[in-house]
Amino acid sequence: MNYGTIATWRMAHDGIVAAMEQLKSGASAGDALETTVKSVEDYPYYKSVGFGGLPNAKGILEMDAAFMDGDTFQIGAVAGIVDIKNPISVARKLSHEKFNSFLIGDGATQYAIEHGFEEKEMLTDRAKKIWQNRLDDMKKHNLSPYDGHDTVGVVTLDTHGSMTAGTSSSGLFMKRPGRVGDSPLSGSGFYVDSEVGGAAATGLGEDLMKGILSYEIVRKMKEGLSPQEACDQTVYSFHDTLTKRYGKAGAFSLVAMNNTGEWGVATNVEFTFSVGNDKEESAIFIANMGENHTTVIEPITQEWLDAYEKRIKAPIE
Ligand code: GLY
Repeated sequence: MNYGTIATWRMAHDGIVAAMEQLKSGASAGDALETTVKSVEDYPYYKSVGFGGLPNAKGILEMDAAFMDGDTFQIGAVAGIVDIKNPISVARKLSHEKFNSFLIGDGATQYAIEHGFEEKEMLTDRAKKIWQNRLDDMKKHNLSPYDGHDTVGVVTLDTHGSMTAGTSSSGLFMKRPGRVGDSPLSGSGFYVDSEVGGAAATGLGEDLMKGILSYEIVRKMKEGLSPQEACDQTVYSFHDTLTKRYGKAGAFSLVAMNNTGEWGVATNVEFTFSVGNDKEESAIFIANMGENHTTVIEPITQEWLDAYEKRIKAPIE
C-alpha cells in the first residue's frame, strides 16, 4: 500500500522520520500528522512554531493551528491561542465538533483548558530576548518589525488511503495582537481530499490568503496534474499575477502530496522541506524557483545543515 508524508522546512524532518515509522506500521494519517507537528511545536529552537515561537508586538505568543481530515472534510482550527503546549492537538479535537470548530483567542485557550490539553508557558527567555532586541533595533534604526513566518505545514497519506493536512504557526514576528495569518484558514494554509491529495503552505499569510493556493493545488491535482505540475502552475502564476496587480509578492512556499504518495513543491524563496513515502526514505531537500515556472529541487548538503544548526542555536546577546 502507498503511504507518505511531506512537510515544510527542515525543522519538520525529525517529526517526518517518526511519522514515517508510524505510517509503515499502519498508523492513521491523523496520528502521523500530529506526531510531525508536535515535534516542531515542542522544540525550543524553532522560532516560528509552538514553544520558543516569537511573540507579537506586545510580547505575547499567540499561536494558530489547523487540522483537516481528507476523508470527511472535517476541519478544526485555532487562532491566537496562548500557553497551550500543542495547538495542533486542540485543532484536531475541534475537527470533531459539528459546531464551533474554529475558535480564536481566549475562546480557543479556554476550550483547550476545559478539554484537558496541557497548559505551558510557551514564551521562552530566548524568544523574549529576541523580541526585546528587535524592539530596541526598531527604535534605533527604524526597521520594519516583521520577520519570520516559517509555518509547519504537513500533508500525510496512510496505508488505508486516508489523508490529512495540518499547520501550526506563531505567525508573523511582532504582529499586531489579534492578527491571524493563512495557517488556520482552509484553502489558504492547507487543504486535503483523500480521493485526490493535499497541500499546505508557509510564507506571508497576508499574501497567501489572496490566492487560496492550497485549495487551488488540490483542484489542479483533481484535474489530473501531478503534485509537482499543480504546485508549479499554481504558485508561479500567482506570484506573477500578484506582482503585476499588487506590485509585489511576499515569500511563499507550498508542499503537496497526492493519494498515491507522489509529491511536489513550489516556492518563490529558498525553501527546505522534508518528505518520505513507501518508495523513498524520508529526506530533506532544498528548493528554489527555477526558470519558466519550474522548481529546482536538490538534496540538502551537510554544510547547509551544520550552518542551520549553528544559526538556530547561536547565543542571543
Ligand atoms: N504563514 C503564517 C502566517 O503568515 O501567519
